[in-house]
Amino acid sequence: MPILEAEGLTKVYRRGASEVHAVDGISLSVEAGEFMAIMGRSGSGKTTLLDLLGCLLRPTGGELAIDGHGVIGASDGELATIRRQRIGFVFQEFNLIPTLTALENVMLPLRYGPRRPEGRREARELLDLVGLGERAGHRPTELSGGEQQRVAIARALVNEPAVVLADEPTGELDSATSDTIMATLRDLNRERGVTIIIVTHDAGVAGSTDRVVRLSDGKVVADERAGTRAFRRALAGDPTAETGAGERVWARLGGLLERARGA
Ligand SMILES: Nc1ncnc2c1ncn2[C@@H]1O[C@H](COP(=O)(O)OP(=O)(O)O)[C@@H](O)[C@H]1O
Ligand SMILES: [Mg+2]
Repeated sequence: MPILEAEGLTKVYRRGASEVHAVDGISLSVEAGEFMAIMGRSGSGKTTLLDLLGCLLRPTGGELAIDGHGVIGASDGELATIRRQRIGFVFQEFNLIPTLTALENVMLPLRYGPRRPEGRREARELLDLVGLGERAGHRPTELSGGEQQRVAIARALVNEPAVVLADEPTGELDSATSDTIMATLRDLNRERGVTIIIVTHDAGVAGSTDRVVRLSDGKVVADERAGTRAFRRALAGDPTAETGAGERVWARLGGLLERARGA
């Protein structure tokens, strides 16, 4: 059974008389243990889709099931429980509480659930897992951007969610730090089997995952697995192109030659 299943998912924003179809009938199935990326230009609907999948937004239409539980008819309270128990969020801006230590930040989501005496130990283990065991007592201002994001990743995992949703998690980081964040997420995926969906406009980030879904105008225009030509085309942003880069260069050279001949 898929961990996430969307069918004809739609989100329409109304601004006065005009409507924006931010997510326009998306069907998507994600299996447990997948490590995938959602790509697309700015405004293509990536954040809206992720927020719908994470039950932060209610869709205008369509169906959505998380871990086999339909969520469309759920009350606000039920949605809050689903978010807390089944979904881990990671954001571009880390969103750590500045007055709390790294460990306290990781433990924060535990406050909103049933008491778990082992929570503190698990939070420590997660900090170790993301390579920050030594920094447990530091506050966010005493940590680099990459370290803050790793704290945020540990926090996203503390309630053992079915899926982690990350919106541009490397958007504020330089490329070397971005690589360590991707390596951390990949380790968590391999070692703990965590299902991870990353929104990014960075082809390097998306290219290190196993599957890329490309959006354009709120629709899926490519959904490809790593290791194929179609995957590389989807990364490059031209999923409908029939010709590869090499072929395009030859086509252009041919045109230049013809002009040089005075044709
Ligand atoms: N709260 C909102 N109200 C009105 N329009 C919105 C709102 N949020 C997003 N949009 C519009 O929906 C479209 C998709 O936005 P978004 O999901 O943020 O795209 P992305 O994350 O790919 O940049 C855009 O046209 C955006 O302007
Ligand atoms: Mg966005």
